[in-house]
Amino acid sequence: MHGSLRIFADDSELCESLAQLWQEIAAAAIADHGAFHVALAGGGTPRQFYQRLARADYRECMPWQDTQVYFGDERCVPQDHADSNYRMAWDAFLSHVPIPLTHIHPLFDPQLSPAENAQRYARLLTEKLPQAGSTPVFDLVLLGMGEDGHTASLFPNTEILQETAHTVAAQRVDKLDAWRVSLTFPTLNAARYVAVMVAGGAKSEILFRVLKSDTTGCEYPIQCVDPQGKLVWFVDRAAAGRLAGESGS
Ligand code: 6PG
Repeated sequence: MHGSLRIFADDSELCESLAQLWQEIAAAAIADHGAFHVALAGGGTPRQFYQRLARADYRECMPWQDTQVYFGDERCVPQDHADSNYRMAWDAFLSHVPIPLTHIHPLFDPQLSPAENAQRYARLLTEKLPQAGSTPVFDLVLLGMGEDGHTASLFPNTEILQETAHTVAAQRVDKLDAWRVSLTFPTLNAARYVAVMVAGGAKSEILFRVLKSDTTGCEYPIQCVDPQGKLVWFVDRAAAGRLAGESGS
C-alpha cells in the first residue's frame, strides 16, 4: 500500500486530526517559502472538514493571510451551481474565514471552455507555486475517492489518466455525461503532502480493493497517486470496515 493509514472512530475525530495536520503543514510551508499552497478536494466528504476550519478555534489561528487555496478538480458549471466544488468550499469555510479573496483560485470560469480553463490554471500554478522542473509543487493536496476508485476527476478508462505533458487537463466523463477540469497525476505526485479522506460504509469495499489488491496500472486511478512527499489516508471506521474484517480485528 502506498502511504500510511489513519483510522478514526468518527468523522469529527478525522476532521480534528486533519485540521491539526493542515495547521502543521501551513506553518512549515510559510516558514520555508513564505506561503501555504493547498489544493482542495471536492465532492461531499470534505464538507465537514471545511466546516471544522471555519469554527472559531481554527478560524482565528490559521495563517489565512499567507494561505493560497486552489482546487484539485472542478465540475464545468457556474460557481453558484449546486454541483460546484468551489461553491461547496465557499459555503463551508471560505466565506467564513479571513482569507483574502485574491488568495482563492477557482478552477472553472464559465466564460472559458474546459480546455481553456485547464490552460489558464496551468499558467496560474506555474506563476504562483514553487516548481519541481516544470511541475507546480503543492504543500498539501486534499483528495477524496469515489466508489470506482476515481480521485479528483481522474476516472477509470479516461484519457486524462495517461496525461503527463500537462499539469491540468479537461476531460469529458461519459458516465457522468459531463466535462471536468482536473489536476493530472504529475501535479498530484509532485506534492509535498497528499491527504485522502474516505468516510462511510459505502467506501469500505473499494478501499479494501485499492489498498489490498495488487493490480498494476491504474485500474483504480487513486492507486497511481504516489507523491514525492507523504501520502496519508484519513479513514473513518465505517470506511475501514472491510479492512478491519480482513485483519480480524
Ligand atoms: C469531485 C471530487 C471527487 C470526489 C469523489 C468522492 O469533484 O467529485 O473531486 O474526486 O472526491 O467523487 O466524492 P464523495 O466525497 O462525495 O464521496
